[in-house]
Amino acid sequence: MQNDIGPTTQTLLERGMPRFRGGQGYAIRAKKSVELGFKPPMQLIIDRAEGDFVYDLEGREIIDFQNGWATNPLGNCHPEILEVVQAAQRRYGFHWEHPLRVPVAEALAETMPGRALPRFSFEVSGTEAVESAVHAALCHTGRRTIIAFASSFHGEGLGTKLISAYNSDNYVGLEAWWGGVTLGLFPVSIGLPPGVSHAQYQAHCFWYLEHYIPQQVMASDNIAAVLIEPALAEGGNWIPDPAFLQGIRAICDRQDWLMIADEVLTGVGRTGRFWAVEHAGVTPDLMVVGKHLSGGIEAFAGFAARDDILGDNPRATGGSTFAGTPAGCAAALKTLEIIARDDVMSHAQTLGEIAEVTMSDWAAQYDIVSEVRGLGLLLGVGFGEDEETGVLLARSVRDEMLRRGVWALCDFEPQVRLYPALTMAPEVLKAGLARMEEAIDSVSRSGPTVGDYPAMPNGNVGF
Ligand SMILES: Cc1ncc(COP(=O)(O)O)c(C=O)c1O
Repeated sequence: MQNDIGPTTQTLLERGMPRFRGGQGYAIRAKKSVELGFKPPMQLIIDRAEGDFVYDLEGREIIDFQNGWATNPLGNCHPEILEVVQAAQRRYGFHWEHPLRVPVAEALAETMPGRALPRFSFEVSGTEAVESAVHAALCHTGRRTIIAFASSFHGEGLGTKLISAYNSDNYVGLEAWWGGVTLGLFPVSIGLPPGVSHAQYQAHCFWYLEHYIPQQVMASDNIAAVLIEPALAEGGNWIPDPAFLQGIRAICDRQDWLMIADEVLTGVGRTGRFWAVEHAGVTPDLMVVGKHLSGGIEAFAGFAARDDILGDNPRATGGSTFAGTPAGCAAALKTLEIIARDDVMSHAQTLGEIAEVTMSDWAAQYDIVSEVRGLGLLLGVGFGEDEETGVLLARSVRDEMLRRGVWALCDFEPQVRLYPALTMAPEVLKAGLARMEEAIDSVSRSGPTVGDYPAMPNGNVGF
């Protein structure tokens, strides 16, 4: 079947295929889709990114709801971030011992809930930052294990693959390394046994965490910490009640476990509050940060902790060579400054409200939509009655969106996820959502149009 992705994109995809891990990804997906009687999925490669848009190699203007995997709070290629990043590179090149670390730590400390997490360890990626925070918790408590959650995603390192729990394939080959992680249950709201309400399931999640695990799986005094995403993003855009995070905090206090919030994706305004834990009024003991702090330009991540956890914890080492680069620190500082100066949080809240109103009746209007879930600009639309049909439908909607010039995410989950920039123009958000609705309408009439389930993630090109 004719591929619609355009000749320049196709040529580069083909050149890349033999060069990268999973480089055959697109080819396999396209072949499988056609074998199943569907179209080859669309793909794009970016030629240029600016503000609320990306422009692909075919010259198409595309509304950006993909947002560099939710790393870009201020829109693509923000000129002020670019300027400070380039200035830092010109001035310091790369050296660890540069002066920007201190003002970044000071500025971040001011944002921390209750100003209770004043010490930092900087890292390059969210993956490293999660691993480093877990290590700090293990060293601080002298205990050996942690609790993470089903459907969570914390990164692609050896440790974070073992900690994450969104796909059983993730563990294959790593079985010998397992042992330090027990999984709690996250209160998802669909797929519950018949007759079980959300409130009952949430109560069950608490019981499982506080009673079942310590009694049947791991002694309480060998559990250092509970590691939780305040909303599950990669694992399917599950947004818990504030009461869930409050309950986790209370259980951690009763059991003498540390609470580590992984705010790599939810932090710095993504959910409409600066940190997502603020929706629940909860202060964790450690908080992992990343993504948005890059200002969409230069990697920056790390974790914050209570003074006593990081102040005197000699075994909890961290920080790889490029952790907290001058350019990354400059990007983070400027990002924090612009968010405060331009009252970006209010704009993001307004955008969140627009999205909520626009999407509110989609589940009632379209049979294929199972649920719309959003918190601020952490937005997701669930599809289908079961996982398999849902993934096919979600990928088809994402595909139809791309054909209409809107770029969104759909990985393994039966969801299309949207991460507009916090500064997106309201009319661009509305136009993107209108095209998304057209895509949903089209797929609800035609049925699935691409069919590469269950092979591989579909979020980006295969290299
Ligand atoms: C909640 C969460 N933690 C950690 C990570 C890993 O961050 P990175 O990809 O920067 O290593 C991600 C990435 O998506 C994430 O969503």
